[in-house]
Amino acid sequence: MTTFRTLDDIDLAGKRVLVRIDINVPIHDGRITDDTRIRAVATTVTEILKKGGKPILVAHRGRPNGRPDPALSLGLLRLPLSQAFSAPVTFAETGAHRTAGDWADAMEPGEVLLLENIRFYPGEETNAPNFAQALANLASVYVNDAFSVSHRAHASTVGVARLLPAVAGRQMEAELIALDKALSRPERPVVAVIGGAKVSTKLDLIGNLMRKVDQIVIGGGMANTFLAAQGHDVGQSLCEHDLVDTARDIIRKSAAANCTIVLPSDVVVAEEFAANAAHQTVSVDACPFEAMILDAGPRTVADIIRRFKAARTIVWNGPLGAFEIRPFDAATNAAATAAAELAASGRALAVAGGGDTVAALNASGAADKFTYVSTAGGAFLEWLEGKTLPGIAALQSNEEEFA
Ligand code: 3PG
Repeated sequence: MTTFRTLDDIDLAGKRVLVRIDINVPIHDGRITDDTRIRAVATTVTEILKKGGKPILVAHRGRPNGRPDPALSLGLLRLPLSQAFSAPVTFAETGAHRTAGDWADAMEPGEVLLLENIRFYPGEETNAPNFAQALANLASVYVNDAFSVSHRAHASTVGVARLLPAVAGRQMEAELIALDKALSRPERPVVAVIGGAKVSTKLDLIGNLMRKVDQIVIGGGMANTFLAAQGHDVGQSLCEHDLVDTARDIIRKSAAANCTIVLPSDVVVAEEFAANAAHQTVSVDACPFEAMILDAGPRTVADIIRRFKAARTIVWNGPLGAFEIRPFDAATNAAATAAAELAASGRALAVAGGGDTVAALNASGAADKFTYVSTAGGAFLEWLEGKTLPGIAALQSNEEEFA
């Protein structure tokens, strides 16, 4: 088990607490279209307030490359955060002739301070020592509640964690516990579902997982590359034909590692990529030349569910089909519902994460019943790849240093 300290291990009363959060939420026409990340940070911030601490929130939005960009200001998140915390939130506006230190000095008990997009400053992404020190000077304690940014070695995730006593926030704590249970010390058998468009983006991930799990169910567009590697004609399907040798190699290496690669046995095909396009279910060896594979078929889904029922742990990343258009979301919905029910009844631990995955599980209505759904995208993938996340490593070494 990874070791790190939490909010239980530190005195917060009367202290200014620098909290790294991830509120990099989708915003269209000034409207937040998914507030999951905002709701997720409330537990930590309200607990700090309740314990008499003064939370100073550090966050980013987008990738402004170290330059101020008004379109990526965090100002419009002040009100939603205040509503989520049921507490006043002050936005430390820049250009108001006040430094972040001035705003922090003026904080009243019970108040939350939200700093401007930290990526407006060049020292953040380069983890410049003087910038990390300036951040550390704002507070006497650091809390990292942003697992989803902890794959970045930035000043607000790594630099400051070396300068202040640092602990994990409640969201980070829950995430690390769930991920540890799912892959570091899982109950077996473990079935991983890996979907998505391209094998090329998941090579490291499959390479790591084949050494840790018992079965890997391959879905989505990337399954087509494996089917082509097995000699099946995939018609006009999305397929990385230049990676068929790599796919064969993965199947060979997995077998040597006692990990079964599970591929579709039947598929749903259509001639156009459109909602409600005319479609049919065919065996994998019967994809018409003019058609493309858009989902796994019912026989495949039944096989996946049978494997889930025999599993004690399910790890899910990526949809099984073109889940964004109906009816090609059917396989993802049916398998996700089955995994969710097994998790809800305590028969398996089911953990999911990664950009499209959360959207797919939310659309299927299954997300709430999973044991844990990570809000992380890139960080979840790097964790599945077996990489050390610098922000997590900094929390652990801090535990040794400030113990
Ligand atoms: C995310 O949205 O995955 C995190 O906020 C990290 O963002 P980044 O990929 O721009 O570092």
